[in-house]
Amino acid sequence: MILVKYLGHACFQLEKDNLTFLFDPFLSGNPLAPITAEEADADYIFVSHAHADHLGDTYHIAARTGATVITTAEIASECKNRGLNAHAMHVGGKHTFPFGYVRVTPAFHGSGIPGGHACGFIVNFNGFTVYFAGDTSLFSDMKLLGEIEKIDLFLVPIGGNFTMDLDDAVHAVRLAAPATVIPCHFNTWPVIAADPADFCDKVTKTTSSRCLVLTPGAGVEF
Ligand code: NI
Ligand code: MN
Repeated sequence: MILVKYLGHACFQLEKDNLTFLFDPFLSGNPLAPITAEEADADYIFVSHAHADHLGDTYHIAARTGATVITTAEIASECKNRGLNAHAMHVGGKHTFPFGYVRVTPAFHGSGIPGGHACGFIVNFNGFTVYFAGDTSLFSDMKLLGEIEKIDLFLVPIGGNFTMDLDDAVHAVRLAAPATVIPCHFNTWPVIAADPADFCDKVTKTTSSRCLVLTPGAGVEF
């Protein structure tokens, strides 16, 4: 059993086997966040890139909880400079952790840190595979990722302007072919306004994936 909770914007909390995982913990200053950074718990924190709406409260939460930050080398260095636990990876890299293995995927987007690269993550939690796309454009190698990993859950941005919009995200779903998709990175601000019901309608009509919309604070079990 894995519990997936949406904490608004691109932040997700996953719980499995008494471990808590945070993805892109932007809580302070996030108008959609259902909890504060002080209330957040984590054993591992995944950070896709260093823009403020993704790196967010990572340093603060990692310092308080002792969580290990799994991220690209440049951001991991920043963590280590602050005395935090971090595991440096990079695009194309794969590593096995006690909870399963992590593959760092490409994401076409700014890194927010000198010399860095934005990324996404495919995490195989000992059999349940989550693809967190990160901030990215649509790219055809999502099809390749869907072929080499059987994706159970795809967490995909739909808000446009900085990332794919919902129509591009529907194509991404078709390429990655996940069992289930949950949209994110929309409606935090007017510039990324999007209708998740429209997204799910298009996913349902044009792909074989199931689409779920989580309101911030809501969760779903797999
Ligand atoms: Ni970004
Ligand atoms: Mn973003």
